[in-house]
Amino acid sequence: MATILFIMFMCGFIRSHASVALRSRSDFRVSGRVLYKLDLSWPKNPEHFSGQVFGVAVNHVAGLVYVAQRGDNIPKVLVFSTDGDFLQAWNTSTLEMPHGIFLANASADPTVWITDVGSGPYGHTIKQYSPSGKLLQVLGSPGKAGSSLSPLQFDQPAEIFIHSSGEIYIVDGDGGMNNRLIKLSRDLQVLWMHGEKGQGLAQFYIPHSVAVDSYQRVWVADRGNKRIQVFNSVTGDWLGSWGSCFKEDAPYSVRLTPDQKYMVVAQLNTNQVTLLEAPPVGIIGQCQVISTVQLAEDVKPHLVDLDLKTAALYVAEIGANQAQRFIPVTAAGV
Ligand SMILES: *[C@@H]1O[C@H](CO)[C@@H](O)[C@H](O)[C@H]1NC(C)=O
Ligand SMILES: *[C@@H]1O[C@H](CO)[C@@H](O)[C@H](O)[C@H]1NC(C)=O
Repeated sequence: MATILFIMFMCGFIRSHASVALRSRSDFRVSGRVLYKLDLSWPKNPEHFSGQVFGVAVNHVAGLVYVAQRGDNIPKVLVFSTDGDFLQAWNTSTLEMPHGIFLANASADPTVWITDVGSGPYGHTIKQYSPSGKLLQVLGSPGKAGSSLSPLQFDQPAEIFIHSSGEIYIVDGDGGMNNRLIKLSRDLQVLWMHGEKGQGLAQFYIPHSVAVDSYQRVWVADRGNKRIQVFNSVTGDWLGSWGSCFKEDAPYSVRLTPDQKYMVVAQLNTNQVTLLEAPPVGIIGQCQVISTVQLAEDVKPHLVDLDLKTAALYVAEIGANQAQRFIPVTAAGV
C-alpha cells in the first residue's frame, strides 16, 4: 500500500514538474470566490509567441483570438483559434509597437483595431485591419504625435473600444503628452471628450484602458491615478470613481464579463487579475473585490479580453511573453 502511494506520489510529482518545465510561468492561485481557473490546454503551440505580448482580442463568433506582440523582426499579430490551434501570423509592416487591440463587429463584418504607440513613421495612430491583417483605415497622423482633434492626432494612444452602435471610445494615452478620453461618432466626429491631466474628477493621468457596459457607462482604467473612473456614455458626465481597491497597484485593464456581473482588471506590478463586482444600473458606489487570480512573479498581466460566448478570459502577459486563457469554473462543469 505504501509503495503504491509512493509511486502515485512520484507520478504526480513528475507530471506537475513536467508541466512547469513546459510552461514556466503557469502557476496561479485564487483568493476570494473561485470564478476562473487557468486552462493550460490553450494554446496548443505556445512556441509561436515570439515577442512581448501586450494585448489580446477575441472574436467570439468566429472563435478566433488575436494576440498583439512587440519585438524586432517578428509578426506583430498572431491568430489562434479558441480551440488553441495556431492559425496565422500577420504579414504587415504597418505596425510598430502595438498596445491595445479590439475586435469590432464580430457578428457581421469583423475587423481588428490596434493602437500603435511607436514613434516611427506608422506610430501615434490607431489602425483598422481586416481579419487577415490588411490595413483598412488609419486614425491619427502617422508618425506625428499631437493633441489636435482636426485632423485627429494622438500621442501613444493606449486603447480603443468600439460599441456595437459603431461609436468609438479612445484613451490617449500611455504616458505621452495627452491624457484624454475621446468619444467619436461612427463617422469620426468628436462627440465629447475629457482631456485634462490631473487628479480631479474627470481628469486623467495615463488613461490606459476603456470599456462600455450594457448600461450606458464608460469605464476607464486611470492608471497613473490608481483608480477607475466611470462616465455616462451619452452625455460624458462623470458618474463615479473607484480607488480603494487599487492602493497597492493601478488598474491596467477594464473589461466586463458577458453577463455584466464582474469587472476584470489586470494589475501588472502585483501580477494579479482582479474581478470586482460590477454595480447595478445607476450606482457606482465603492468597489468590491470578489476574486483575485494571483499569477507568478514577473508574469506582468497587461490587458485582457473576454470571449462573449463562453466567458473565457484571455490575458496578455508582458513579462511571461504569452497570452493565457482562464475558463469560468461553473461553465467548465467542475
Ligand atoms: C509578406 O509581405 C511581403 C512584403 O510586404 C511580401 O513580399 C511577402 O510575399 C508576404 N508574404 C506572405 C506569406 O504573404
Ligand atoms: C457591421 O458590419 C455591417 C456589414 O458590413 C455594417 O452594415 C454595419 O454597419 C457594421 N456595424 C458597425 C457597428 O460598424
